[in-house]
Amino acid sequence: MSVDTPLRPSLPEQTSTPAPLDPQAAPNTQVAPDPQLRPDGTLRHLLTLETLPRAVIERLLDRAQSYVRPLGEPPPASAELAGRTVANLFTEPSTRTRVSFELAAKRLGAQVVNLEVQLSSRVKGESMLDTIYTLEALYVDVFVIRDAEAGVPGLVAENVRPHVSVLSAGEAHVAHPTQGLLDALTVRQRKPRFDSLAIAIVGDVRHSRVARSAYHVFRALGAGEVRIVAPPAYMPEATEFTACVRHTTLSKGLKDVDVIMMLRIQKERMSQASLPDADRYFAKYGLTPERLALAKPDAIVMHPQPMNRGIEIASDVADGPQSAIRDQVRNGVAVRMAVLSAVCAGRGTNLK
Ligand code: NCD
Repeated sequence: MSVDTPLRPSLPEQTSTPAPLDPQAAPNTQVAPDPQLRPDGTLRHLLTLETLPRAVIERLLDRAQSYVRPLGEPPPASAELAGRTVANLFTEPSTRTRVSFELAAKRLGAQVVNLEVQLSSRVKGESMLDTIYTLEALYVDVFVIRDAEAGVPGLVAENVRPHVSVLSAGEAHVAHPTQGLLDALTVRQRKPRFDSLAIAIVGDVRHSRVARSAYHVFRALGAGEVRIVAPPAYMPEATEFTACVRHTTLSKGLKDVDVIMMLRIQKERMSQASLPDADRYFAKYGLTPERLALAKPDAIVMHPQPMNRGIEIASDVADGPQSAIRDQVRNGVAVRMAVLSAVCAGRGTNLK
């Protein structure tokens, strides 16, 4: 899928009929084994949630929950990853996600190296893999990769030695699987019955890897309804999010939902011409207390951060009683611990 195609002009409010949210029809139940899994079914790589079986997702969430502690208590610590080396290769700016992966690895006893290397397969070709092979020779066991180019984590995963794992920390607009898992964990902690939930994913869906991974995980977990709410210019292609009802106004899109997932406007993935005017965007698509009142009274509000306060979300809402945004951050470390633990345990040593 390309996001370089010209953005569509404004359209009036539209509501489409979605394909049913039938778990049997979901790609997660396909027969072909997910290449992210080892032949024995354990998790080796995590690049996308799209094909991950529901049982694997649920095990990861259970494991992550076991690592969650109330703030104020010491964070969990173990020696599960003692002797393992994790390399964080981030070529897009990120503080939160990198720190979250780093703390997760350290709290499990791993050694961590943070590198800013050029990974682009298009520009650098073979030299990207040379970097990977060099790090492999330095005993790196897990590569955590964030890159603006689609396909890079997959290419690395295809070329590493059998004992090495690759985890995506955000791939272009395509996938952000640990974000999807932490979003699911955050919802599950407050609203454990996914089948009765209506979830709205709101904002710049078109350019958002967070939205794609959220869609995949909520679908896999059998969410009752997943809607997308976006200005026409930020709607994804019709071939994506096929199980979602699409709304172009918050007044319809937020009605009676249980979960509101706000997204950041991905300015870095837009041409100058399609950048929205901040005030106009907030006037139409900003989440204000009045608009939040359209949702169920106990609805929760999420945002992957970094937030553009006053553009996609009002501070009153971001910091208000219905906000689960700080829980998302806390859950991020727990989820990354669970994923690191799973890929390392499956290698056959250090099994608990
Ligand atoms: C997200 C990302 O980078 O994809 N942020 C994050 O992982 N903390 C969301 C975003 O940048 O909008």
